Amino acid sequence: MVLDGMTTVLQPRPLPNFVVTPFLQDVVDRALTYIAAGFPIHFRGASGSGKTTLAMHIASLIGRPVVMIHGDEEFSTSDLVGGEHGYRTRKVIDNFISTVLKTEEDSSRQWVDNRLTVACRYGFTLVYDEFTRSRPEANNSLLPVLQERMLDLPSARNGDGYLHVHPDFTAIFTSNPEEYAGIYRSQDALRDRMVTMDMEQFDEETEIQITQAKAGVERAAAAKIVGIVRGLRESGVCEFAPTIRGCIMVARAMRVRNGSIAPGDGMFRQICQDILASESSRGGSKTQTFQVKSALNGLIDAAEVSGAW
Ligand SMILES: Nc1ncnc2c1ncn2[C@@H]1O[C@H](COP(=O)(O)OP(=O)(O)OP(=O)(O)O)[C@@H](O)[C@H]1O
Ligand SMILES: [Mg+2]
Repeated sequence: MVLDGMTTVLQPRPLPNFVVTPFLQDVVDRALTYIAAGFPIHFRGASGSGKTTLAMHIASLIGRPVVMIHGDEEFSTSDLVGGEHGYRTRKVIDNFISTVLKTEEDSSRQWVDNRLTVACRYGFTLVYDEFTRSRPEANNSLLPVLQERMLDLPSARNGDGYLHVHPDFTAIFTSNPEEYAGIYRSQDALRDRMVTMDMEQFDEETEIQITQAKAGVERAAAAKIVGIVRGLRESGVCEFAPTIRGCIMVARAMRVRNGSIAPGDGMFRQICQDILASESSRGGSKTQTFQVKSALNGLIDAAEVSGAW
């Protein structure tokens, strides 16, 4: 759906291959309870903890059209609320006397609602992904929306200067922890107005099922890959703990090779090193990469010796 020629609205649809395990169902149930109680929710957690996917899943369960915004350092209030864009031009051509051409032009700036205004006006679900990547002042217009359910509109817009937020409007936020690069500290006032749910790393069963679903591999292969990745995470040698994305990538690469992981499979070892060693270090320093590769070799050897496969 396209509104005002500028804003694209997504239709709520169940996500393909979305995995629901007891671990995830518990998070979903709590989030829906807070939404029913009238609170916006905020999923906060490390990269790869499933925040965006969960936000979209919950939006699809709410069933209203979805407006999505991705936080951006360059954002200003007008990127969220709206602003004056382009010109509307009217032209009158008076050619009553065919030899004389008389033209009259009249142009005025056009107000265009942006996504937050559209969601508030029509009662859509707003998914504001990584909202702390926007500068805090760009997010100020959210404060009265979440507290008083009013949106202040700049005077340039024709009308009352404010908008009553539609009763069906719901907001779902996601953010990475503050220590990540490019993240602003979320304003206390904004955080106070939402229920923040800290996302833990997935449990093992959830990781296995997601890897299976997203890569289309057998459960046994998914379980082996997840076992190695979880071992690497706990080894303490990684600058960045490898995430579920690493499991999915390794599994997809293995699928290209028919998916079975036999003991002594040199290609499996190589794929794990390529994908997981780069995911786990920021600058790719030689010592760091060497440590991760050694830890990986140790984990794969131990799994082979113990007969885990
Ligand atoms: N419940 C789920 N079912 C199926 N796949 C999932 C599920 N949760 C997460 N995933 C998959 O795991 C990966 C990471 O999830 P997602 O992108 O939601 O994480 P994120 O927390 O938003 O990460 P980032 O902070 O980097 O944006 C994606 O490939 C996603 O498709
Ligand atoms: Mg995300």
